[in-house]
Amino acid sequence: MSLQAFGQGTTPRLYGKLECTNPGGSMKDRAARGMIEWAEREHNLSPGARIVVCTSGNMGVGMAMVCAVKGYQLICLVDAKINPATERCLRVLGAEVVKVYQRDETGGYHLTRLARLESLLAEYPDAVYLDQYDSPAAVAAHSTSTGPEIMAALDGQVRAVVMVAGTGGSSMGVARFFKAQSPETDIWLVDEAGSLALPGNGGAAPRHLNGMGTSIAPANYAPPEFHEFIDHVVYVNAEESIRAAIGLARSEGILVGGSGGAAVHVMRDLAAPHYGPGDNLVALLPDHGSRYTETQFDPDWLAARGINVPEILNADTDI
Ligand SMILES: Cc1ncc(COP(=O)(O)O)c(C=O)c1O
Repeated sequence: MSLQAFGQGTTPRLYGKLECTNPGGSMKDRAARGMIEWAEREHNLSPGARIVVCTSGNMGVGMAMVCAVKGYQLICLVDAKINPATERCLRVLGAEVVKVYQRDETGGYHLTRLARLESLLAEYPDAVYLDQYDSPAAVAAHSTSTGPEIMAALDGQVRAVVMVAGTGGSSMGVARFFKAQSPETDIWLVDEAGSLALPGNGGAAPRHLNGMGTSIAPANYAPPEFHEFIDHVVYVNAEESIRAAIGLARSEGILVGGSGGAAVHVMRDLAAPHYGPGDNLVALLPDHGSRYTETQFDPDWLAARGINVPEILNADTDI
């Protein structure tokens, strides 16, 4: 959709690819289905099979949905950063939730999750672990659907796509599609400062945005493909991302999560000045913001982390 009001004053035309309209509420539905269908081919899964996935939430919801339909059991290995609302969705969809609470030496939870994964797989030797950090199936799900949809919606005229970095399935899939079909399209990748997801990162530090950033380097972003497909890398913080998400909500009526906020912030404030009139820029908006009312959009949650979002405090004062 056009983000004309949010982009007021910018020269190129700004668009958002809204992924909250997928049935599980995020773009991860696409990768979840692709990965499970891959596992069916590779592991001959039959109903009752047990799948394990490490997830920050949205992948779990997508997989829980697919597993409910296909009759598989799902264990979601999550960490303390998961949104309460997402965790409840996982349980309602029938997934078993295993949660780790201890931060690892990078300040994130991934290494703690991996240690727990090892003990889980020992407990359930027949379980199939699906690794979204190293998943050609997740990348392919986006190169065959998300990328073509963006291209078709803008009649092939896409000057730049701005996406956030997580496990790499969405960004590397969309980038792969564009570099094959429209090499003149620039690919901008956005990560949260303190994440180790991308080659050349600035070192580990605590992060706050849900879904984006990692405490390990996903194989999906391994060079040399990373450098072939990604043109610009930008690091942002939680404050500017959440403020942009609120700006988008109040200008366009579109409520996205903090990672979508990061993408529209970079598209409007950092990418747009590089482009001219008639250029179409697109931000991939991974999910809806309603799941984050107890975290990224909660004044107390923000204050406890020293994240300054005066828009939310003002809204409270006004009530
Ligand atoms: C809200 C949100 N934003 C961004 C991402 C990053 O996507 P990917 O893992 O495809 O890099 C995710 C992934 O879980 C997510 O849930």
